[in-house]
Amino acid sequence: MDVTALSVFENRCLINGQWIGTGETASGQRIDVTNPATGELLSSVPVLSEAQIHESVLTAQAAQVLWKKYSPQQRADILKKWFNLMHEHKDELATLLTLEQGKPLKESRGEITYAASYLEWYAEEGKRAYGDIIPSADSSEVLVFKEPVGVCAAITPWNFPAGMITRKVAPALAAGCTMILKPASETPLTALALAKLATEAGVPAGVLNVVTGSSTLIGKILTESPVVKKLSFTGSTPIGAKLMEQSAPTIKKLSLELGGNAPVLVFNDCNLEQAVQQVLDCKFRNAGQTCVCANRIYIQSGIYDEFLEKLAQKVSQLKVGNGLDESTTVGPLINAKATLKVQEQIDDALAKGAELVTGTAVQQPGNWCVPTVLKNVSQDMLCAKEETFGPLAPVFVFETEDEAVQYANDTEFGLASYVFTQDLNRFIRVSRALEYGMVGVNTGILSNEAAPFGGVKASGLGREGAKYGLEDYLEIKYVCVGNIT
Ligand code: SIN
Repeated sequence: MDVTALSVFENRCLINGQWIGTGETASGQRIDVTNPATGELLSSVPVLSEAQIHESVLTAQAAQVLWKKYSPQQRADILKKWFNLMHEHKDELATLLTLEQGKPLKESRGEITYAASYLEWYAEEGKRAYGDIIPSADSSEVLVFKEPVGVCAAITPWNFPAGMITRKVAPALAAGCTMILKPASETPLTALALAKLATEAGVPAGVLNVVTGSSTLIGKILTESPVVKKLSFTGSTPIGAKLMEQSAPTIKKLSLELGGNAPVLVFNDCNLEQAVQQVLDCKFRNAGQTCVCANRIYIQSGIYDEFLEKLAQKVSQLKVGNGLDESTTVGPLINAKATLKVQEQIDDALAKGAELVTGTAVQQPGNWCVPTVLKNVSQDMLCAKEETFGPLAPVFVFETEDEAVQYANDTEFGLASYVFTQDLNRFIRVSRALEYGMVGVNTGILSNEAAPFGGVKASGLGREGAKYGLEDYLEIKYVCVGNIT
């Protein structure tokens, strides 16, 4: 498909309101963007030079002086326009997203709506960056102002090429910060399309800059720069830790949304039909390539066989294919390495005593992965310890609530977790006992713009969404008015 025919198409970088990098770039190189379903070359984006990346930082610094003076209402008007433009171009954006990322069109449309919702939410929330007046112990007045953090940087992943961008850019801009965005090299076209709509909506030059090129070089410049006051990163824990280390000398604020290893606890007293459907949606959305997707599925012994039978039946009906085909429910994985990781986990589990329920023990080489369910899985297997990021559902059995919670917490990660029960006391008890930033109760889908998304332990720092997402882009200034007579 010819992506250049899409009106939202853009394959140049945005710095200071200028689109740069047509043909040869200052570095003389470009990065190919391919369709994971077909291997077809869609386009390419610039590899910016060191000087160009530094320029994006200086540009964001100059723009911030003006942007912070815009009233919250003026910023809201621009974000709302951007929101409307995303809706007007929803089908084109979804097509572009499916082409470069692979997920089914229905999911891409859902992601565009989801991504746009952050623009609307923070357009409103930016008006409510309340400070405080605090009664003091003496004759002074304690005033608390909320101020924008300043120049911010965002490094975003390929699994949600639109959602992960607006979740960071919308609160930053609403707070009066400016941004340098580095999208994933696999999916830069959605990011550039969003930036194109942002400029159309009236985001001033330099307020949002999008840079592409060497991840190592861009990460180094953005983390080492004293001008950049905050970095928001979504990706793996090892890369997050490295960025954190690089950011230490300049004492940056950090938001890190890192790896997960989400447990699902399904108790005998659940609504079984609901639990099976929710686990299916949670596990196989985006072909299992989400940080919050069910990674370990623990079923209480009384419903183990029935749950497995119902889940296997639904999984065998999933249709793997090109996301552009409306009947596809599971698209390709992002690359062949991702399939190899799934294969490695299947091999390890089968060698240690797990059994195949549905799917295939041997995946084909390439980007296609057959949705697979394993039973009799145990804590010593790779699939219990590592994030899979693919359509493999390992199903474990447990007897007691204490045992289930212990299994669930037996990981360095702490992003999302899920509980299925109809017992009110159990839902409170288990939700409190789970060492996770998020708990889904009787649901497998928990992210939306009104909710604080984020993890604990090795899953990261900070929250995105809700009022908390705005606070991550605000500094507190205490003003003491003394000697009041
Ligand atoms: C993620 O995988 O990081 C995000 C998933 C979501 O927003 O639901």
